[in-house]
Amino acid sequence: MRIIIVKDYDEMSSKAARIISSQVTLNPKSVLGLATGSTPLGTYKELIDLYNKKEIDFGSVKTFNLDEYYGIEKQNEQSYHYFMMNNLFKYINVPLENVNIPNGNAKNIEEECLRYESEIEKEGGVDIQILGIGANGHIGFNEPNVNFETRTHLVTLDERTIEANSRFFKDKESVPKKAISMGIKTIMDSKKILLIASGEGKAEAVEKTIKGKVDPKVPASILQLHKDVTFIIDKAAASKL
Ligand code: F6R
Repeated sequence: MRIIIVKDYDEMSSKAARIISSQVTLNPKSVLGLATGSTPLGTYKELIDLYNKKEIDFGSVKTFNLDEYYGIEKQNEQSYHYFMMNNLFKYINVPLENVNIPNGNAKNIEEECLRYESEIEKEGGVDIQILGIGANGHIGFNEPNVNFETRTHLVTLDERTIEANSRFFKDKESVPKKAISMGIKTIMDSKKILLIASGEGKAEAVEKTIKGKVDPKVPASILQLHKDVTFIIDKAAASKL
């Protein structure tokens, strides 16, 4: 486990972008695992910047997102499809046929989860998975009291997640109660993991993840068992370490 503590959000974002960019330089056909939420926004801005400076070429890259809300259309502004398109994909040259995000609106969710897993497998697995962390210690939407053995599956969102994500919706009631998420097993199969965390609100989750025991109550704590995981944490998020 590599822990890099940085000054602030901006430094976290530029360091994370540099790591992703090196990955793509070393292997232009890299399979990137991507996250949504506030944490990676700065990283995505930096990546767009590197792309504009011709320092990174996404032309042969494949991407797999961690999760998508259940029962939401791709065009919906709250969907993670919309988020990814408008915060990254439309500004870089990744071919859209190389982009994968679970279809939260699939008729048969079980089939969709299996399909997603087999697409990842077909590409030889994720080379580097970017993760944020929930204040409750979740990764992807693998909520506390997680089963560490799961692959992509339908999850019921934790009350704290609904509360936290309500900032993107008109009210708490509008937040979907379920989502499709890569499971812990899927995440742990990634060759490399890069977890980024910023702000005091994440300090407790970061502390439990890094210093606590591996515990299903803190889903991210399983990362202690991954052989190539890097945490980039700003001072505020590292304040309890
Ligand atoms: C997003 C995801 C979540 C977020 C986490 C932190 O695809 O899977 O685990 O990374 O909820 O969200 P932010 O970054 O908004 O604090």
